[in-house]
Amino acid sequence: MDGELSQEILTKRLADVPFVSRVLYLRSTTSTNDVLKRLAADGAPEGTLILADEQTAGRGRLNRRWVAPAGTSLLFSVLFRPPEPTPNAPHPSPLQYTMICSLAVRDAAARLLGIPIGLKWPNDLVHGGRKLGGILTEISTDAEGAPFVVVGIGLNVNWDPSAAEFDYPATSLANAVGHPVERGAFLRAVVEGIARRYAELRAGVSPVREWEAALDTIGQDVVVELPGERITGVALGVDADGALLVRTGEGTRRIVAGDVRLRSPGAAP
Ligand code: BTN
Repeated sequence: MDGELSQEILTKRLADVPFVSRVLYLRSTTSTNDVLKRLAADGAPEGTLILADEQTAGRGRLNRRWVAPAGTSLLFSVLFRPPEPTPNAPHPSPLQYTMICSLAVRDAAARLLGIPIGLKWPNDLVHGGRKLGGILTEISTDAEGAPFVVVGIGLNVNWDPSAAEFDYPATSLANAVGHPVERGAFLRAVVEGIARRYAELRAGVSPVREWEAALDTIGQDVVVELPGERITGVALGVDADGALLVRTGEGTRRIVAGDVRLRSPGAAP
């Protein structure tokens, strides 16, 4: 049974999770990333989490929209304030925040629901070849010039997006397990995972090799769409920063941004 979410329910659910400092529930808002970026610029503490039951201007990577019916999904953003770098713990790259959050969703799905979630470089959460969710990581600076990172997570939970007019095949947790999923419990498991993995990241432990091992993209024939350029090749792996290494006819290309899709059998190279 899913159950409603509210400020009270969320506060209780996340009360004793380390790292979470403040929880804000919004029934409807533009985009939780946009709201949290504004609060962060005004000094909100690390560990602030904003969740909305509905977004009217939800955003994905590459200026795409993120659309989900009200009350069906997990749509939330979390604030990180990167510590001063030290020789043992250099500044994490924005992609490392994406990594820890995607691995936390993957862990939660395995632990609570017993389903495997694959990752598609750089930010997609996938089940059975269909997109289940995505992560939007944005870095900015506050009024004092201190950097902050907002990670927004959108997860289809209790609706069927398979017939939605997206330009990719989509699914949800409920579709994957065949019954409704309690959003509050799933959220808590994800946030616990983020807290644990962020503590490791702060201690200088890179998530990159674990993340690479979870990427369905590796070893596949891929097409990478870059501004004004399309490259095809084999995804070999990722480097220490998480950039995708693609072997093409001309050598190995390092991809830091762009749209990557698997090349279907027989597709033109
Ligand atoms: C993507 O797949 O490109 C990323 C999608 C991220 C969507 C989430 S929903 C919560 C947060 N608020 C937003 O506007 N976007 C992220």
